[in-house]
Amino acid sequence: MTQLKGLILSGGRGTRLRPITHTSAKQLVPVANQPVLFYAIRSMVEAGITEIGIILNPETGGEIREVTGDGSAFGASITYIDQASPDGLAHAVLTAEAFLGDSSFVMYLGDNLLQGGLTGLVQQFRTNAPDAMILLQQVEDPRSYGVAELHDGQVTRLVEKPAEPRSDLALVGVYLFTSRILEAAKAIEPSARGELEITDAIQWQVDQGDRVEPHVVHGWWKDTGKLADMLEANRLILDTIERRIDGAVDEGSQVEGRVVIEAGARVERSVVRGPVVIGRDAVVADSYVGPYSAIAKDAVVERSEVEHSILLERAKLIGLEGRIESSLLGRDVTVRRGERTPRAYRFMVGDNSEIEIL
Ligand code: G1P
Repeated sequence: MTQLKGLILSGGRGTRLRPITHTSAKQLVPVANQPVLFYAIRSMVEAGITEIGIILNPETGGEIREVTGDGSAFGASITYIDQASPDGLAHAVLTAEAFLGDSSFVMYLGDNLLQGGLTGLVQQFRTNAPDAMILLQQVEDPRSYGVAELHDGQVTRLVEKPAEPRSDLALVGVYLFTSRILEAAKAIEPSARGELEITDAIQWQVDQGDRVEPHVVHGWWKDTGKLADMLEANRLILDTIERRIDGAVDEGSQVEGRVVIEAGARVERSVVRGPVVIGRDAVVADSYVGPYSAIAKDAVVERSEVEHSILLERAKLIGLEGRIESSLLGRDVTVRRGERTPRAYRFMVGDNSEIEIL
């Protein structure tokens, strides 16, 4: 088989991650201080896939192009492909037809994270040479996923977001396809929500008698579309980091366990308990930063406590009484204790924000 190509779908609008996604693409929200999209690119390159197409939507595409570049930083060559309208994942595949040609390819949804990489999966796909390979995982509530039914190890039925799922096997957002999927995508009709579903395209292949191989994944898998999943992905990735202290830690501070402190960052009179990453030029002073926190570059934590949270660039926590946890703070967000009287809560908060107070 010739070299596989890679196709990453980063056209989604990320409505469930508002307000963060009002101003930035969801695929660029950082997990352990790295845009979630970078993990997909890296696992492709690791599996020997260097010719990568990324599908973008016109609104957030510019930012993704800028941050990700031509791919050389990853050892890849990236082609950007615009999907003018959000008409579904199978529509996105059709948009990439010229890029894909007749190659087989790995398709990766740009907000998914899959432990264990792609190398083994690519090998299995090459060895068994099915017409398509799908990845599945048991989930508690399959209703927000594509759901697969298997009989004797064979895929018999695939349904997108069924109200009454007939199995608990969800479709993971990583697929291995031959160019046959293009034919399938052309043959199907839009679903009730008006989209050309990749799930329906694969069902078409099943109906045609194509060999669709299921592979149940046992490592973790996360679709980072919602805050809780984003925080969980952050936790899972932070669990894999190694201790590295390149920034400055003063004598009054304690840095425990697996903590990364990037160059230029300062930790003063504080306790940092890993796993934690603290980005370049960030400042942590008179504070506690607890497990599973990712503090982006230029962020500030002063006289505050934070745990199990993600702070984006230049976010600031200053002088808070209660501990912050399970939170995602966008770029340039400030949460601080007010000095003015009357003592009151004062907010200047964007659309779709959520605040819970003590
Ligand atoms: C998409 C697919 C769904 C799959 C899921 C995995 O759903 O349509 O079949 O299970 O990705 O993340 P979406 O997240 O776009 O709603």
